[in-house]
Amino acid sequence: MKKAPVVLFFALALVVDTDCVPKQSPKMVQVEAAATALGLSQVESGAFLARVRQGTGRFFELLDAAMADRTTDAKLLARVDKSKSLPRDYEPSDLVQLDGKSLSVSRPGHRLRKPAFEALVVMSAAAKADGLSLTISSAYRSYSYQESLFTRNVAEMGEKEASRVSARPGSSQHQLGTAIDFGSITDAFALTPASKWLVANARRFGFSLSYPKGMESVTGYVWESWHYRYIGKAAASLQAEYFDGVQHYLILFLDAYRLAQPNR
Ligand code: DAL
Ligand code: ZN
Repeated sequence: MKKAPVVLFFALALVVDTDCVPKQSPKMVQVEAAATALGLSQVESGAFLARVRQGTGRFFELLDAAMADRTTDAKLLARVDKSKSLPRDYEPSDLVQLDGKSLSVSRPGHRLRKPAFEALVVMSAAAKADGLSLTISSAYRSYSYQESLFTRNVAEMGEKEASRVSARPGSSQHQLGTAIDFGSITDAFALTPASKWLVANARRFGFSLSYPKGMESVTGYVWESWHYRYIGKAAASLQAEYFDGVQHYLILFLDAYRLAQPNR
């Protein structure tokens, strides 16, 4: 759906509202305002609002739960990308060491925020029960560590290419302590049973793929089959069912929906 029909629908809804059509719920009006503000025409040719209207119960159950998670934990669904970065000194206060926790790690010293760690433990046990091992190759990265990674990439491939595959310091989800790189950190990971298992199951544990294939113009980064972010179960389901599996759309939408609320 193009932006114009969305606006047109919104205008028509207002016109006929006073007649025989039942009044839209305030929450639906806020959803439409947020969708319009974002020009959600990109999401599956505009099927977003149509899909919401088909099953408002399920949509609002997930949306309310995700918004509650967002309120409880301000960084869980925070936007961190090429346009919005974290301060140099931001370090989560609840980082947990992954060593000695029956997890498969590429090296000692990886850390994650407590909620991501707890979800990872449950997810790894489920993968193990299916005969698979999920190896954590990168987790929390400080601003200065990200700075050294980005600098190294620039030296190796030049700034333009480096910025397609790695975040500038402050712009990495890894600084949030909720992002994990699994396995080889190469495209070959996508062909492994572990990756296929994650594609099918990660959302059940609250993890979502941050940089899907073919979405560089939206996310700012090339496809990373190995990079998952913990966003909570409700948000992960919301993303899968209503946002074409694109985390970036979901996070932008939640921000816009919050802005559309009267008592913010
Ligand atoms: N590779 C991702 C974009 C990062 O550096 O955070
Ligand atoms: Zn990563």
